[in-house]
Amino acid sequence: MVSSTTLSRAFPLSSRLDERGRLEVGGCDTIELAREFGTPAYVVAEEDLTSRARAFLDAGRDSAREELQVVFASKAFPCTAVLECFAREGLWCDVASGGELHLALNAGFAPERIVMHGNAKSETELRMALGRGVGQLVLDNFDEIERIERLIGEGALGARGRQSVLVRVTPDVRGETHEKISTGQADSKFGFAMADAPEAIARARSVEGLELEGLHAHIGSQLLSLEPFRRAAAELASLGDFAVLDLGGGLGVSYTQEQPAPPSIEEYVGAILDAVAEAGIAAQTRLMIEPGRSLCANAAVTLYTVESVKQNVSRWVAVDGGMSDNMRPMLYGSVYEAHVADRFGGRTPCVLAGKHCESGDVIVRAAQLDDPRAGDVIVTPATGAYGYAMANNYNGVPRPPVIFCRDGEARVVVRRESLEELTARDVSSVEAGR
Ligand SMILES: Cc1ncc(COP(=O)(O)O)c(C=O)c1O
Repeated sequence: MVSSTTLSRAFPLSSRLDERGRLEVGGCDTIELAREFGTPAYVVAEEDLTSRARAFLDAGRDSAREELQVVFASKAFPCTAVLECFAREGLWCDVASGGELHLALNAGFAPERIVMHGNAKSETELRMALGRGVGQLVLDNFDEIERIERLIGEGALGARGRQSVLVRVTPDVRGETHEKISTGQADSKFGFAMADAPEAIARARSVEGLELEGLHAHIGSQLLSLEPFRRAAAELASLGDFAVLDLGGGLGVSYTQEQPAPPSIEEYVGAILDAVAEAGIAAQTRLMIEPGRSLCANAAVTLYTVESVKQNVSRWVAVDGGMSDNMRPMLYGSVYEAHVADRFGGRTPCVLAGKHCESGDVIVRAAQLDDPRAGDVIVTPATGAYGYAMANNYNGVPRPPVIFCRDGEARVVVRRESLEELTARDVSSVEAGR
C-alpha cells in the first residue's frame, strides 16, 4: 500500500507529493495540469526519458565490448517528441511498418540508425526501407527474401548498391509473460524457425545487393526474469559467428508497487553481456538491444477526471477515458495502480471503470482510492508504453494530448484530437461540406 508520503516505483523518477499531498510530475502540479490541458491526458516526465536512455548507454559503455547499440522500439511510444528525445540522446530506432519508418525519419533519426522489422512487410514498405537505406532490414520469411531480390533487381536500392540485413530467428525460448506478447516460442508468427535458419542465412547471402550482417531474436515483452536471454544468446551462437547480434527488447517494468520489481537497466544490460560472453560470442560482434517499454512506460502517467461514482455490489468510479487511451487492461488483463491525484493513500475499494460501451472497459479492477467523488482527478502511473501507441477512437472519443513536463514547465507535444478530425477522413462528410 502506498502511504501518503511514499510514491510507488511505478511513477516517473523525481515525481513527488507536495506539502499539500498533490502529485507533481516533472515539477508540475498534476491538478493544475488537468485544469489547464483537460483530461484524459498523458503526462510525461521528460527527464525520465533521458535518464533511462543514458542508463542504457552507460551500462553498455562499461563493458569490454566495443559498443552496445541501444535501439528504441518506437512502437512503445511513437510520438515525435519522444523520438526526438531519443534521437538526441544517440539511440537508434526500431520500426515495424512504413508508418513508423516515416515517424522515425521525420523525427530526425538518420536512416542508417533505423532497424526495420515486420512479419508482413508490404512491397511499398520494403521499397521505402531499401530506398532510404535503413541501417538494418530484418528478414522475417522466405517470401520476403524473394520479394526483396525482385525489388533490388528493379533498382530499389538506387545508387547505394547494398543493404545490410539481419535474419530474425525464433530461438524456441519462452519468456514468462502474457501469451500475446511472447514471441520467441517455436510456434510464432515472427521470424524463421531454428531449423530453417541455416537456409535463410544462405538465401540472404545469395542475393546480390544484400549483406547479411547477423541475427536477430526478440523473445517477448514485459520479462521479469533474465534467464531466457541467456538461452536465446546460446541458441543464436549455435548458428555461427556473425558481425552483428540483435537480442531484441523485452525488459519488464513496474506497473504497481505490489508486483515483483523488475531487474534494473544495469542488471539487464549486465545479464545480456554475460549471456553473450557465456555463449562464446566474439568480443568484436556488435551487439544491439531494442528496449521499448523500459525506456518509456514509467516516464508517464495518465490523468483522468471522475465523471460518476455509483455503488452496487462494487463501488464503480467512472472516468472520462478508458480503453481508448489504454488498451492494455483489456488486451492482456494488465494491472495498474490508481490514486486520487491530491489524496494518495486511500483505502476505499473501487473499480476504476472507463467510459466506453463495454463491460470489460475497466482500467483498474481492484483500486483503492480515497473516497472518490465526481470531479476528482485520478492518476494511473506507468502508462508511457503502448498506451498512446494503441490509442483509438472507440465510441468517437478523441485521442488525448501528450504533455511534456520538465523543471516545472509543461508543454503540449501532441494536442488533443478534435471532433472535426473524427470526420476529416470521412469522404461522405467532407463531400457534403460538413
Ligand atoms: C522486434 C521487437 N523489438 C523490440 C520490442 C520492444 O519490446 P519491449 O517494449 O518489451 O522492450 C518489440 C515489442 O514487441 C519487438 O517486437
